[in-house]
Amino acid sequence: MPPCVLLAGFSCSCQTHFSSKQGTYPRAFGLGLYTRLNKAFFPFADSPGVRFSSCTPKVCIVGSGPAGFYTAQHLLKTHQNVHVDIYERLPVPFGLVRFGVAPDHPEVKNVINTFTQTAKHSRCRFYGNVNVGKDVSVGELKQAYHAVVLSYGAEGNRSMGVPGEGLAGVYSAKDFVGWYNGHPSCRELNPDLNCETAVILGQGNVALDVARVLLSPIDILKKTDITQPALEALVRSQIRRVLIVGRRGPVQVACTIKELREMVNLPGTKSEMVEADFDGVTEALKDLPRPRKRLTELLLKTALDTPGDKEQQRRHQASRTWGFRFFRSPSEVLADADGNKTVGIRLAVTRLEGSGEGARAVLTGEVEDVTCGLVISSIGYKSHPIDPSVPFDTRRAVIPNTMGRVKQATGLYCSGWLKTGPTGVIATTMNNSFDTARSLVEDMESEALDLSSVKTGSEVISALLEERGVKSVSFSDWEKIDSVEMSRGEASGKPREKILTVEEMIQVART
Ligand SMILES: Cc1cc2nc3c(=O)[nH]c(=O)nc-3n(C[C@H](O)[C@H](O)[C@H](O)COP(=O)(O)OP(=O)(O)OC[C@H]3O[C@@H](n4cnc5c(N)ncnc54)[C@H](O)[C@@H]3O)c2cc1C
Ligand SMILES: NC(=O)c1ccc[n+]([C@@H]2O[C@H](COP(=O)([O-])OP(=O)(O)OC[C@H]3O[C@@H](n4cnc5c(N)ncnc54)[C@H](OP(=O)(O)O)[C@@H]3O)[C@@H](O)[C@H]2O)c1
Ligand SMILES: *[C@@H]1O[C@H](CO)[C@@H](O)[C@H](O)[C@H]1NC(C)=O
Ligand SMILES: *[C@@H]1O[C@H](CO)[C@@H](O)[C@H](O)[C@H]1NC(C)=O
Ligand SMILES: *[C@@H]1O[C@H](CO)[C@@H](O)[C@H](O)[C@H]1NC(C)=O
Repeated sequence: MPPCVLLAGFSCSCQTHFSSKQGTYPRAFGLGLYTRLNKAFFPFADSPGVRFSSCTPKVCIVGSGPAGFYTAQHLLKTHQNVHVDIYERLPVPFGLVRFGVAPDHPEVKNVINTFTQTAKHSRCRFYGNVNVGKDVSVGELKQAYHAVVLSYGAEGNRSMGVPGEGLAGVYSAKDFVGWYNGHPSCRELNPDLNCETAVILGQGNVALDVARVLLSPIDILKKTDITQPALEALVRSQIRRVLIVGRRGPVQVACTIKELREMVNLPGTKSEMVEADFDGVTEALKDLPRPRKRLTELLLKTALDTPGDKEQQRRHQASRTWGFRFFRSPSEVLADADGNKTVGIRLAVTRLEGSGEGARAVLTGEVEDVTCGLVISSIGYKSHPIDPSVPFDTRRAVIPNTMGRVKQATGLYCSGWLKTGPTGVIATTMNNSFDTARSLVEDMESEALDLSSVKTGSEVISALLEERGVKSVSFSDWEKIDSVEMSRGEASGKPREKILTVEEMIQVART
C-alpha cells in the first residue's frame, strides 16, 4: 500500500490534490468535493492506481534565532497545513536574542513572546540540543522533509589578520558578548579586566554594547540578566577608559543614534574625543542623508560643544571615560617582555579616499601605539558552512541564494544572517525571513517543490537521533529551564539568572 494513502486515511493529510489512473485532479475540485472523494476512495485505497499524490508539506528549519522563528511564523500563517519542525543546537531557543542583545536592553527581548506563540502552534515543534551537521546531516533532513530552511546565523568572528591577535588579553566581541550573556561556549573566557585602558576595534552597535557593559555602573547591571560571573568580574574591573577605534572617520561610524546617545548619557562617564578628527565634518553635514546627518550632528556636539553648567558638573563627577578614535586601523597587538600578554596595540594611521558613507580608508604609512591591557575586536561576525553538501560562498561567507532559494539546490532555503551576512537589526532579519518563507510557499503552490511523496519528518529524524545517543529538548522542556532561571533571578533581584552549561540545562529539562 502506498504510504501516502495510509496517511490520508488516518490524518487527512493529503489535502491539495490527488491522482488516479484516470489522471490528476487538481485543487480546482475544491476542498468540499475533495473531502467527499477522499472519504469515498479510502475504502479502496489498497487497489492499485488509486493514490493521493500530494501530502502534508513538512518543512524543517535549522536554528531558532529570529530568522528561524520568523520564517516559521510566516510559513504557518500563509500555508494552512504545512508542518514546521525547528532544530536548534543548544537546549535553549532564541539565538542572539538570548546570547547577543545586551542585558541592559530588555525591551528588545520582547520578541520572545511572539516566538513562543509560534513554538506553541499546533503545527510547529521545537527540537533543541540537536547540532545539525554533526548529530544529523542536512542530507538526512532533506530526505525526511519536503524542504529545509537553513537559518543557523553567523556564529564565528571575522579575524583582524594582524600579528598578536592570539595573545592573552585579546578577545573577539563575539566571545566577550557570549561571556556576559551566558553562552555555554564562552563560559570559560574569564577575561582579564585588571587594566586601566581597553581598546575596542570597530564602531558598530556591538562595539557600543561592549563599551557600555565595560563602563556601566554596577547598580544598573546588577538589575539585568547579565551572568553572575560577569557581574562579579565587572565589580572588580580596573578599566577606567575605553577607546572605540575605527579605520574611517566620524561620517562613517557604523553605530546608530540611539546607541550613541546611550553612551553620551551613561552615568558616571564622560567622553573624550580628538578635535582634529572632526575637521571638515561640519561642512560635510549638508550632503548627508537624514539619519546619518542626525547621528553626525550628535557626534559633533559631543566632541566639540562647550558643555553647559549641568553637563560640566556631570563630567566633573565622572570617574570613567570613553571616546572614539578615528582613522586608525589595527596593525599589531603588542606583547609584554615574555611575549604572552597584551600591553598595547599598534594602529596604522589612515586617510579617506572619497567622501560620504562610502569613503574608503587607505594607509598613510604612519603608525601610533596605544597602551592597553584589553583588546576587543568588534569588526563583525561570520557564518561558517556546517555541511559539505550545501553550497557556500566562502568569500562572502553566506549561502548563495536568490530570495532565500539556495542556488542549485532544490528544496533548500536560507534566511537571516546566514543569507544576508551579519548585518541588520531584528526587524531586518524579520523582513528577509518573511521573504524566504514567501519563496517557499510560492514553490509549494507552483509545484516547483515536489510534494508528491510522503515525508516522515521528525519521526525518522527522532529515531536517528535516538540511535546516535542524542537527547533532544522540547519546547516544554525549555519552559522548565525558563522558569528555573526566572525564579533564580527573582532571588537576586534580576529578571533571570541564566544557566551556564549545557549539562545543567539538560538536567533541569529532565526533571
Ligand atoms: C551582540 C549583538 C547584539 C545585538 N543587539 C541587537 C539589538 O539590540 N536589537 C536588534 O534589533 N538587533 C540586535 N542584534 C542583531 C540581531 O541579533 C540579528 O539580526 C539576529 O539575531 C539574526 O538572526 P539569525 O536567526 O540569523 O541568527 P542567530 O540569532 O544567531 O540565530 C542562529 C541560531 O542557530 C543556532 N545554530 C547554530 N548552528 C547550528 C547548528 N549547526 N544546528 C542547529 N542550530 C544551530 C544557534 O544556536 C542560534 O540559536 C544584535 C546582534 C549582536 C551580534
Ligand atoms: N542596539 C542594536 O540595535 C544593535 C546592537 C548590536 C548589534 N546590532 C546590529 O547587528 C549588526 C552587526 O553589528 P556589528 O557591530 O558586529 O557590525 P557592523 O555594524 O557591521 O560594524 C562593524 C565595524 O567593524 C569595522 N570593521 C570591519 N572590518 C574591519 C577591519 N578589517 N578592520 C577594522 N575595522 C573593521 C567596520 O568599519 P567599516 O565601516 O570601515 O567597515 C565597522 O565599524 C549591525 O547591523 C548592528 O546594527 C544592533
Ligand atoms: C577570530 O576567529 C579567527 C578564526 O577565524 C581566529 O583565528 C581569531 O583568533 C579569532 N579572534 C579574534 C580576536 O579575531
Ligand atoms: C609567559 O611566557 C613565558 C616564556 O615565554 C613562560 O615561561 C610563562 O609561563 C608564560 N606565562 C604565562 C602566564 O603563560
Ligand atoms: C521591513 O519591511 C517593511 C515593508 O517592506 C519596511 O517598511 C521596513 O522599513 C523594513 N524594515 C527594515 C528594518 O528593513
